[in-house]
Amino acid sequence: MIQPSDLTIPTLGPCAYDAPGMARDLATEAGGWVSDDQKILFEDTAAALAGATLADLPMVELAGPRRRIFFDPANTTCAIVTCGGLCPGLNDVIRSIVMQTREVYQVSRVLGLRYGYESLNPAYGHEPLELTPESVANIHHFGGTILGSSRGNQDISVMVDSLVRMEIDILFVVGGDGSQQGALAIHREVEKRGLRIAVVGVPKTIDNDLLHIDRSFGYLTAFSAACQAVNGAAVEAQGARNGVGLVKLMGRDSGFIACGAALASSTADIVLIPEVPFQLEGEDGVYEELKRRLSAKGHATIIAAEGAGQDLCAGDGATDRSGNRHKGDIGLYLKDELGRRFKAEGIEFNLKYIDPSYIIRSVPATAEDSVFCLHLGAAAVHAAMTGRTGMVVGTRHTRYVHLPTHLVTQGRRKVDPKGPLWRSVLETTGQPAIFGD
Ligand code: F6P
Repeated sequence: MIQPSDLTIPTLGPCAYDAPGMARDLATEAGGWVSDDQKILFEDTAAALAGATLADLPMVELAGPRRRIFFDPANTTCAIVTCGGLCPGLNDVIRSIVMQTREVYQVSRVLGLRYGYESLNPAYGHEPLELTPESVANIHHFGGTILGSSRGNQDISVMVDSLVRMEIDILFVVGGDGSQQGALAIHREVEKRGLRIAVVGVPKTIDNDLLHIDRSFGYLTAFSAACQAVNGAAVEAQGARNGVGLVKLMGRDSGFIACGAALASSTADIVLIPEVPFQLEGEDGVYEELKRRLSAKGHATIIAAEGAGQDLCAGDGATDRSGNRHKGDIGLYLKDELGRRFKAEGIEFNLKYIDPSYIIRSVPATAEDSVFCLHLGAAAVHAAMTGRTGMVVGTRHTRYVHLPTHLVTQGRRKVDPKGPLWRSVLETTGQPAIFGD
């Protein structure tokens, strides 16, 4: 149960400077400043409010420009690091942070740190890039990150030493769960040493698995790209007698991409996600359901998130540099096992297997995600300039807010098998709710 104090955002100290000219003019013209007491309810259901007094209710700070800031822009160096797997919109976020810091706040220097947290370990020898409005002007047209990325954290003390050596005042960490845990550790070390360095995160995960935010940037783009694969699989399935289109989509521990693609394409017959266990065998299993679909309409499409059915196809037990356990290949497992069963029963079938893999996350952001990234970058800069730290920006109940990093990294967000998203997947596919019992 979240308490009001859990939502407190740490700050480096009092704000001694007026926001500079352009920030001031824009804030005034665009509808004014956001004051520190402008907050929204963390939970907005009637049940959460029942019987509570205002002071008991957990509230989240609204993001946006403040009249007074902590850092003197003329003497401030910002740095941006992109960590973890790629995600559509990374370049949009970089661009937005650079434009906001340099053009709006007139910050003197912005560095782009190369290859994730490796950049803060001198042993790798990655030199930072100077980022200017000119150098980032067109980067949002491209997927990936101009800074490069890497998985895994580096020694925290070494990273803080590097921040000090490079005279970095504000570190923007664009990364997922593991990277934000790294950002939190950096923030705590900075605090322990009594340094004046702000660490502000922009949550990044195509899996959409960060807690407490409405959604992460790049997720919409990723599942839009995934739809192409699903639609392709459906066309292939329809083009053959007893055609089966099978698509494996990213989604390590959370099936949001599979659900999003299933709803948007509305062609899938069966969707398998990590949160909902299933069997291949038996009346209630995937194989019999598939046969029912084939006999009803002559073809079928299956979407499997990569983390689905891990009790059926164990991985090799190894972990990646972020500490994520390698998954067993559910796509190949289904292809082989379903094929074997059809063959054993002498049923003619045509299975086409599509694994779009990295294609869905290396594309440029869609227009909607681009706008989202632009706002997230700006919100991160507004927060950091006030000396806020140990926090991430994101949307909650559709409003841009500040959330403490420790809160969003407490676990991973999952598709709720009893919630509305999974329910609409069941409605759209018509697949029985048996998968999940
Ligand atoms: O970041 C999330 C994700 O895209 C997962 O869906 C996927 O399992 C993983 O990253 C793959 O990343 P990589 O192969 O780059 O480590």
